[in-house]
Amino acid sequence: MAVPRSEYLSNVWKDGIFDNKVVFCTGGAGSICSAQVRALVHLGANACIIGRNVEKTERMAKSIATARKGAKVIGIGAVDVRKIETLESAVDRCVKELGGIDFVIAGAAGNFLAPIAGLSSNAFKAVLDIDTLGSFNTLKATLPQLLISAAKNPNTATNSSTGGRIIFISASFHFTGMPLQAHAAVAKAGVDALSASTAIEYGPRGITSNVITPGPIAGTEGMDRLGNKEAEAAGSAFKQIPLGRYGSVKEIADGTVYLFSDAGNFVNGEVLVIDGGNWRSPGGM
Ligand code: HXC
Repeated sequence: MAVPRSEYLSNVWKDGIFDNKVVFCTGGAGSICSAQVRALVHLGANACIIGRNVEKTERMAKSIATARKGAKVIGIGAVDVRKIETLESAVDRCVKELGGIDFVIAGAAGNFLAPIAGLSSNAFKAVLDIDTLGSFNTLKATLPQLLISAAKNPNTATNSSTGGRIIFISASFHFTGMPLQAHAAVAKAGVDALSASTAIEYGPRGITSNVITPGPIAGTEGMDRLGNKEAEAAGSAFKQIPLGRYGSVKEIADGTVYLFSDAGNFVNGEVLVIDGGNWRSPGGM
């Protein structure tokens, strides 16, 4: 069944702004990334979503395709972002079936709550491998396509046809430090640094690279794994969030549309935090 637009996209965006564009998204079967891709597909893009689980990824691709009549959405499972060759095969298939790649979302992540004393060296490495190395592998595997797209869509103040853009999905744990999240904080600090480096190194060739940092977003696997169930049950879960609520996946999708659209032409090397002010709040996460 089709998901109503109000769940993944605001009314401010015009249909067709991403006609003939292709988005490649790792972690695309997850709750946040699937909303981002659904929004882009609704507005005209075709998409390739990448995941580890074949069945889950293919099922989500079919669901996203219902966002627009005639949309092409491919789900490629059995891809582990830690292994660049699996990503390279996915890129090849995406290019063969959809004609290229204009936008990339590096969204695959792994996380769990654990104190430093309870983290084995391998556990720490597992999260760095998925988040940081996986983001690098995603960038590296898609870079030739991003360069082609950037050359076709020159970044000027007035060009509305955009391309050659990457968004990394990060977190705010490392802005302040957070208990039970040393592994994820280190991994995401690396992701932010990778994005900034990409922005500087490839900006001159027309690529933009930015980070979206979601805060506590309702109904996501991240909140299932990391949220404070006791606080939710006690009704005090929103205490430290200045806006007094969790965010929605739609609010992350709207930020994504902004950065990939011509409204975001001059935004490069930035971190767009969408968290209701949470990380700045004492006790926020
Ligand atoms: C301590 C743990 C652990 C835990 C796993 N490990 N879970 N250590 N506490 N809770 C250890 C294991 O014992 C092992 O170390 C090492 O981590 C690797 O575990 P494997 O299971 O072998 O690895 P793998 O199958 O690759 O799994 C990776 C994973 C897993 C990260 C551990 O959780 C995963 O695949 N997650 C993917 C989905 C996910 O996490 N999504 C949420 C993303 S949310 P040893 O020493 O025993 O070998 C997010 C941001 C949320 O990132 C933001 C919210 C505000």
